[in-house]
Amino acid sequence: MLVLAIESSCDETSAAVVRDGRHVLSNVIASQVDIHACYGGVVPELAARKHLEACPVVIDQALNEAQVTLADIDGIAVTSGPGLIGALLVGLSTAKAIAFALDIPLVGVHHIEGHILAPLLEQDVEFPYLALAVSGGHTHLYRVDGIGQYELLGRTLDDAAGEAFDKVAKMSGLTYPGGALIDKLAQQGDSSVFDFPRPMLHRPGFDFSFSGIKTSVLTRIKQLDVPLEGEVLQNLAAGFQEAVVDVLSRKTFKAAKEYNLQRIVVAGGVACNSGLRQRFKKMADSSDIDIYFPSLVLCADNAAMLGVAGDFYLQQGGNADLSLNARSNWPLEQAGLNAQQVCGTVW
Ligand code: KG4
Ligand code: ZN
Repeated sequence: MLVLAIESSCDETSAAVVRDGRHVLSNVIASQVDIHACYGGVVPELAARKHLEACPVVIDQALNEAQVTLADIDGIAVTSGPGLIGALLVGLSTAKAIAFALDIPLVGVHHIEGHILAPLLEQDVEFPYLALAVSGGHTHLYRVDGIGQYELLGRTLDDAAGEAFDKVAKMSGLTYPGGALIDKLAQQGDSSVFDFPRPMLHRPGFDFSFSGIKTSVLTRIKQLDVPLEGEVLQNLAAGFQEAVVDVLSRKTFKAAKEYNLQRIVVAGGVACNSGLRQRFKKMADSSDIDIYFPSLVLCADNAAMLGVAGDFYLQQGGNADLSLNARSNWPLEQAGLNAQQVCGTVW
């Protein structure tokens, strides 16, 4: 089965062609990062307008790169939430138009569902597994028993990890989105110079909190009597990153043990972080737990990741009608085959 996947939930417009839910034939990503950088964050209205321009272009390119035409496509998978509502609606409307014109089925996929299933495009990962979704909007731990079977085990109570990276980058005078820039600086720094708190680490349960670390970074920046540059900035980035990685890794491994899960998937934009990847791999090496990270391009927002669940729901007969709506908020536990039937205005 050939699936055309479309993603437009935030500031990347992406289209992909995926065969049988596992083989990526193309995965075209048009980033709007430069447009939003001067505003210090994503401007929703601008994002929607740019998706409108980019959507037909990336779809054409995805079909060309896969060496197929629209006539070869068996079904469409589209991100129907969560995300920026205007941005989501552009991808969803495009997907509906194509599905209607070609008379082929359409399914809505949850953005985080796409992220946490992305490793299946590159490796065989057996269910059940523990998934840590770390992105600009999510820091959530799920037990994944299969495609469409997700149980929430813990979540951030305030900022998402990516949001904390971006905010700390902003405080440090770096451009948006600053996660990758902090990562680069941290690689040159000494993480023991600045010691930041590890919120929620010793509390029972598997929730997270990152706003305290962020405030602590701000306080330290204000106390500095030297300019925040060079080695000082590198050390600050390293100390902050170490604190975030410490909390994420220790709580995730604790959850894997408590729920008796032998496999951990780490996905979403923050899963690109070099310190995070190293730490999880090191902890996996000294335990009987296997760790799976998607390659970098499949960690960040992309359409190919929707192909796994999209193909599965289409194979199960999933076919959302044209009343399928975008949802800015949408708990992952409600995603799945049944979500295709949800109609009407629900955001
Ligand atoms: O999954 P994603 O591409 O978009 C959302 O769904 O939010 O994640 C974007 C987030 C941003 O906060 C970005 O700063 C962060 O991922 N990010 C990183 C790195 N690369 C991207 N954070 C830390 N280290 C990185 N190398
Ligand atoms: Zn994402």
